[in-house]
Amino acid sequence: MNSSENEYKQIQLLDILPNQVLAFDVYIFLPANNKYVKYINENDTMDEDQIQRLKFKKINELFIHKFDIDKYNRYVSSNIRALLDTDNQQKRQEAIKSAAELIINSVDILSSDGDIIEWNNNCIELTKTVIDDIVKTEDIGIAYDKISEYLSGSPSLASHSLIVSSLGVIFAMSLGNTAPRTLTEISFGGLVHDIGLGDIPTQVAEKYLTKDEMTLVEVALLKEHPRKGINILQKIIRSKNITDNVLKIVFEHHENVCGKGYPQGLAYDDLSYLPKIISIADKVSFEMLDIDKEDISLKYIILKIIREQESKGYGKELLDKRMLKALLESLSHGRTK
Ligand SMILES: [Fe+2]
Ligand SMILES: [Fe+2]
Repeated sequence: MNSSENEYKQIQLLDILPNQVLAFDVYIFLPANNKYVKYINENDTMDEDQIQRLKFKKINELFIHKFDIDKYNRYVSSNIRALLDTDNQQKRQEAIKSAAELIINSVDILSSDGDIIEWNNNCIELTKTVIDDIVKTEDIGIAYDKISEYLSGSPSLASHSLIVSSLGVIFAMSLGNTAPRTLTEISFGGLVHDIGLGDIPTQVAEKYLTKDEMTLVEVALLKEHPRKGINILQKIIRSKNITDNVLKIVFEHHENVCGKGYPQGLAYDDLSYLPKIISIADKVSFEMLDIDKEDISLKYIILKIIREQESKGYGKELLDKRMLKALLESLSHGRTK
């Protein structure tokens, strides 16, 4: 292992936007030489070709000096704001997805209090954008089509989180919850519900997000993610936006009506309202991976989930049946409010 290893912090290639001046040096790691080599100098930019070349070579991880972490976080933040400010409607979904990638990827690089406040503000900006887009769209079918655009490319934690956040808002509104505070909690909770997946082995998280088969050991590791999520949020908890409801969403989104969920094995009467909505959004998000988005409506997916649950029989239900039926009913009207 290289002696200078601890001097560097890994960042993601997709955090670097083309033609943006970098406020820090960027390094790549050469395994053959066991060495970090400077790739881009501070105050230079990377153009689209350079980024594509690295992608082509499967160099998706870059490095920065640890003393540049603050500068890097400020760079990420300003990119998030720029993306969310975009007026280009055609590229809007792409920009929102990139902003979500930046937010989710930067969570493990937060070091100072300033970084944490900034990260939280970025989450709130994204949350507001998600809610505004859905409220303005009004028609559920159109809102759902926009959400489906987040699926382009291979499934990532950010795209899954964004889809669950957006579906959570649609479902909450469809069930009659239009209070801004509730929508913010559901959208924020949806965005961070799986943040703990970043803290379990990458191959396990990837298998989960792509619905790949897992060994029993991998399943056991996966089941750690709600608790790990809470641990990650502890450092951000001073913020007023990490409410009890947000924490409950993170901790309880894998609990089941039948009491066989994890990590606590809570049963129906003990399940909280907002985590139940996010559990449904989570399930729908995975169903969306299997279907041709042009042919299948959200209503169809909910109906499929209801039928699947009914075929399992009494005592084996995972999701709240009454909530699913109320959703189906309200999706038939097609309006978000
Ligand atoms: Fe999860
Ligand atoms: Fe999830």
